[in-house]
Amino acid sequence: MTTNEVRAKFLKYMESKGHVIIPSSSLVPENDATTLFTGSGMQPMVPYLLGQPHPLGKRIADSQKCFRSQDIEDIGDNRHTTFFEMLGNWSFGDYFKDEEITMIWEFLIEELKLNPKNFYVTCFKGNDSLGIPRDDYSANVWKELFKNKEIDALIGDNPEEEGMKEDERIFFYGEKKNWWSRSGVPVNMPEGEPGGPDSEMFYDFDSDLKKNLHANSKWSKDFCHPNCDCGRFLEIGNNVFMQYKKVGGVFVELPQKNVDHGSGLERYVCAINNDEDIFNIDVFDEAKNHIEKVSRKKYGENENVTYAYRVILDHIRAATFLIGDGIFPGNKDQMYFVRRLIRRSVRFAHNLGVSVNFTKEVATGFIDVYKNEYKNLEEKREIILTELEKEEKKFRATLEKGIKSYKMFSPDFVVSGEVAFMLVSTYGFPIELLEEIAKEDGKHVDKIKYEYLMKNHKELSRTASAGKFKGGLGGDGEIEIKYHTATHLLHQALKNILGDTVQQKGSNITPERLRFDFAYGEKMTDEQKKQVEDLVNQKIKEGLPVTREEISYDEAVSRGATGLFTDKYGDKVSVYIIGNGKNKSDTGVFSIEMCGGPHVNNTSELGTFKIVKEEAVSAGVRRIKAILS
Ligand code: ALA
Repeated sequence: MTTNEVRAKFLKYMESKGHVIIPSSSLVPENDATTLFTGSGMQPMVPYLLGQPHPLGKRIADSQKCFRSQDIEDIGDNRHTTFFEMLGNWSFGDYFKDEEITMIWEFLIEELKLNPKNFYVTCFKGNDSLGIPRDDYSANVWKELFKNKEIDALIGDNPEEEGMKEDERIFFYGEKKNWWSRSGVPVNMPEGEPGGPDSEMFYDFDSDLKKNLHANSKWSKDFCHPNCDCGRFLEIGNNVFMQYKKVGGVFVELPQKNVDHGSGLERYVCAINNDEDIFNIDVFDEAKNHIEKVSRKKYGENENVTYAYRVILDHIRAATFLIGDGIFPGNKDQMYFVRRLIRRSVRFAHNLGVSVNFTKEVATGFIDVYKNEYKNLEEKREIILTELEKEEKKFRATLEKGIKSYKMFSPDFVVSGEVAFMLVSTYGFPIELLEEIAKEDGKHVDKIKYEYLMKNHKELSRTASAGKFKGGLGGDGEIEIKYHTATHLLHQALKNILGDTVQQKGSNITPERLRFDFAYGEKMTDEQKKQVEDLVNQKIKEGLPVTREEISYDEAVSRGATGLFTDKYGDKVSVYIIGNGKNKSDTGVFSIEMCGGPHVNNTSELGTFKIVKEEAVSAGVRRIKAILS
């Protein structure tokens, strides 16, 4: 059975049980400011669960597109996807536990023809302090259903500590596992939020295995149980008994007892295939073929290849659906997730050795599979493909340069805050990606320093643009810009006097002074300080022009620019030249630095430069404070 067939079968079955079938809502919730994306089938149903009558009646079913942004970094195992379809049915104060559990069981066993022996279920063990009783009712319904299939399902009361014992199939867990609300466990629920105990269904991918004998199996876990995550069991669906609402910190009964059932469509297909790898279901076939063509690597070939395939398959499918729902790659809110999905795919394709654009073809594979169910994908085919490719091209250039620089500037275990800042501000290299790449290499990014530099940088740019907006630079903004240019002069003067190994480690500017940290092993002598001061003042006196140019990174390097920070995203970098000429080696040029600015137009605007302090900040790092007067 294909994924499309399973979806159709579910909806037809629910229709036969008196449900009205409705289309999926958008991935962007309407009238719901609490979340960026639709992450479960019930989200569009909240008003009706709370008691508002649904115009189509008390029984509703659908297949809802879902996106769980918090799972982006978890993608790579055999069962998580950011985008998925949730098969759902709801009873708004109509049927309850008995009918729901019986109905879904009949679907799994009689319609999908799954073997009852492969099923394990869980129920809520109750919580006295919340006044919510143990759900023996649901457990008994399950017990009867198993019995009808000649299975004597025993109850496991303490699976997390004792594992599963022979013949145990119905397990009780606490609210971390068997309570459901949009915000999770009861204590996290805000006022007015509906929630309730639930009963989950798990499929066993190794039903011949003796319950606790995992020693020689691939599931090597001592205490396996349905929720243990070793991969043997896959949660395929959840029946939530939405019966409560949080009011004044306690739980009160809703006006009606509701059912919110949601199952993973893709996970049903896994169970049908008896293959625990979700990326082996049919909807990924076309996309996989394309990745194979461009990478010349086969899915499953080795762990790294499989991981990269999974990230790409998941992310491009999600991005395809998100763009289809009108969310284009960008820097804000939902748009940023689309951008991240595409960028991560490009990065993992890079790991696979893919050097051509590929997202368009991969997405085509998805549009073709889903177009009958999701007509908007066909209607927006061109837009989706164009947006994907645009973002892909932009990022590929960034990625290649960024990785090169990262390798060059991070020889040891720490990626310094300065390097991180440079990569982000010069190339628009996403900080999360940098952290991931560093992690893969066993390195650590100095995030604290990075955040600090970023904050300073943003404040400086803001000050400058606020000043410009007023029709001229004035007040503190103007002073800080002078300090900014003075910092470039100081940086170069230090290199001239102390040697080229001087490397900037940080910079901070206030209207009162500049502060400059740099790598240097010794305390500066008074003589050296004087020489630096004199050199800066000489360059101020010379009245050198300060000019900005936008050039490619490679050109900046070949012209001898000092690699520091810039505002400019993407391929081009902005450099500031102090002096007359183009290259650092030109006699008229004193300094050339990659930098976003802003700067004064001529050094003569700076006044007199004076070092007021020179001290150590840490081993091998010196700090200078200087003023202009
Ligand atoms: N709303 C329930 C879930 O998402 C069915 O698991």
